[in-house]
Amino acid sequence: MERELPHSCSVCGLVPLAPGLRRHDRVIAESPAMQELLKRTSRFAPSDAPVAILGETGTGKEVVARTLHANSLRAGKPFVAVNVAALPAELLESELFGHGKGAFTGAAGPRRGLFEEASGGTLFLDEIGEMALPLQAKLLRALQDGEVRRVGENRSFAVDSRIVCATHRDPAERVRQGLFREDLYFRLKVLTLHVPPLRERREDVLPLARQFLGEERRHLEGFSPEAEKKLLSHPWPGNVRELQNAVRHGAALASGPLVTLEDLPEELHRGAADARPSLAGPDLRCLADVEREHILRVLDACGGSQTEAARILGIGRNTLWRKLRGYSGDDRHAS
Ligand SMILES: Nc1ncnc2c1ncn2[C@@H]1O[C@H](COP(=O)(O)OP(=O)(O)OP(=O)(O)O)[C@@H](O)[C@H]1O
Ligand SMILES: [Mg+2]
Repeated sequence: MERELPHSCSVCGLVPLAPGLRRHDRVIAESPAMQELLKRTSRFAPSDAPVAILGETGTGKEVVARTLHANSLRAGKPFVAVNVAALPAELLESELFGHGKGAFTGAAGPRRGLFEEASGGTLFLDEIGEMALPLQAKLLRALQDGEVRRVGENRSFAVDSRIVCATHRDPAERVRQGLFREDLYFRLKVLTLHVPPLRERREDVLPLARQFLGEERRHLEGFSPEAEKKLLSHPWPGNVRELQNAVRHGAALASGPLVTLEDLPEELHRGAADARPSLAGPDLRCLADVEREHILRVLDACGGSQTEAARILGIGRNTLWRKLRGYSGDDRHAS
């Protein structure tokens, strides 16, 4: 298979194309804050030490993790990503460490874990803040010893996978709450990268929006001046992912060569005041109504993805599904 030669950035020396990303998924970094982050990423890349990537949801933590890997000496080896929050603890343990034959009902044969799959490469543990405490102890042991033991087996064997983890939570706060082991925290946070929220790097907004528009199947020339103005002034609580969804929305609705303000999602082209029920007096709605509104807003910002919305809301997918089903008269979300 023909491999495209990566071009490195003249400012930071990084290769902006990461493996596994499509041709257009270049890392946009026009803002000083992102330039600084990429420089730091390039300094961390050659090391084998763990890296913790912190930042609000949708800021681009996985993009940074892939860039780190693509610029490391491990670039030719696998980048294996696992979302810690998506699996129950027991399943996650056997996913990470593998299992022996007959380790549990249904384990017909032995299976390699993701630590082994990522050997020589990078193991990306996304949403590490959600990892159950017993598994944290096992992860710590694997990091300290450089060895893993498959579930249901006695022997350990060496693995050489670089650990990169990410969380949208404040890990120090998780430690204070007793939800994250302090010793593991110290081990993981030696090299830390903070991905800034989009509202703190306005210079990236339009380049990102244009790149996302270019990825759409429909050929559109760009955004109207009013749409650009709105994209620049919106606070983007869902960060780059929310911007990406807004651009998709705009591209789907555009009737001319440009995406106009009216084509963007409702919460953008309405005035901020209209987005709230009534700011004239105190908001005295009951909790269920506020919850419903928030859930539907997050779901919209996630382009309708219930998995994504559940993760951002910090609830299980089933819980979200049940709640949506309860919102009678709104079949759109309950299906
Ligand atoms: N700097 C960037 N350049 C180009 N695309 C980006 C950039 N940052 C983020 N994206 C795109 O935005 C989307 C969200 O990014 P990503 O999944 O890396 O965010 P995240 O911080 O891991 O989000 P979450 O906290 O929800 O897991 C992806 O589609 C990604 O390709
Ligand atoms: Mg992520």
